[in-house]
Amino acid sequence: MKQVILTGDRPTGRLHVGHYVGSLKERVKLQNSGDYDEVYIMIADAQALTDNAEHPEKVRQNIIQVALDYLACGIDPAKSTIFIQSMVPELTELTFYYMNLVTVARVQRNPTVKAEIQMRNFEASIPVGFFCYPISQAADITAFRATHVPVGEDQMPMIEQCKEIVHKFNTVYGETLTDPKIVLPSNKACLRLPGIDGKAKMSKSLGNCIYLSDEEADVKKKIMSMFTDPNHLRVQDPGRVEGNPVFIYLEAFCKDEYFPEFLPEYQNLEELEDHYRRGGLGDVKVKKFLNNVMQAELGPIRARRKEWEQRIPDVMDILKEGSRVAEAKAAQTLNDVKASMRINYFDSDQSDMYQK
Ligand code: TRP
Repeated sequence: MKQVILTGDRPTGRLHVGHYVGSLKERVKLQNSGDYDEVYIMIADAQALTDNAEHPEKVRQNIIQVALDYLACGIDPAKSTIFIQSMVPELTELTFYYMNLVTVARVQRNPTVKAEIQMRNFEASIPVGFFCYPISQAADITAFRATHVPVGEDQMPMIEQCKEIVHKFNTVYGETLTDPKIVLPSNKACLRLPGIDGKAKMSKSLGNCIYLSDEEADVKKKIMSMFTDPNHLRVQDPGRVEGNPVFIYLEAFCKDEYFPEFLPEYQNLEELEDHYRRGGLGDVKVKKFLNNVMQAELGPIRARRKEWEQRIPDVMDILKEGSRVAEAKAAQTLNDVKASMRINYFDSDQSDMYQK
């Protein structure tokens, strides 16, 4: 069986370092591993519109921002098909057929949808399209016959719901759709990177993000203002590493080779953490080290982003060509789906349609 990756992001803002360690970095690794026959990276504008119906311009503007972030991180258009969701209308048609295989109660139980409804104060006024987005996400995944879906941990319920739709479809209409697997980063710190304020999740609406497009000085300012252990008041006090955002970021970004370069008194993160726990290590020193590490990781990304920013027409061409390739693939799957459902009325011998 072909090994296929499909994943994507809603274009509601520029991507941040939480996206990077939670999924983007993994995608680039998978893309370059040579283990996959096809890689599709989707800018999910139609999904973004499910809760931004009044602000299509916000979605429109962020399509390019997300594309730039992808290219900056090393998504390579020669290896991956980058495309815009709404440019593949087959996805909408698939969604419409899948909707009949899912109950309202089941969507209501989806923990991600539940949390989002609460966060947006939708309760009594949920747009129908928003409510159905897990089903449309199943269409995204299955249209490309994805075997692997690298996403952040918060997307787990979406993949589970997709798998249920696949099983239901295949049971009712015969083996047609491919069962996907979620791919999560193996590093725990990467699963859910907290914001710089220590809040559970980095999120645009909380204003606690470090963006991939942030300038060097902004990154430094944000890191130096980060929350740490609130009880670590004096340098000599013992400190807590667990739940301390500065150390969570180090766990997500630091490599051993950064120590000789930036902090040669220690060999590795373990030694640094031990010292912090014992007491005698100040937050400012750790933050300065984190800043050096993050600048080393983000510098090349920022530089590549600036290069692509000078080539917007080329970025548009990449999206246009990607959308063309993506549509061809989705159209094939839609044909298979309609054939399995036997609603491909004009395709072949359909004489049973008029038999009594
Ligand atoms: N829901 C994802 C997000 O919030 C975006 C997305 C849409 C997606 N369709 C997908 C991710 C299919 C993986 C697979 O960013």
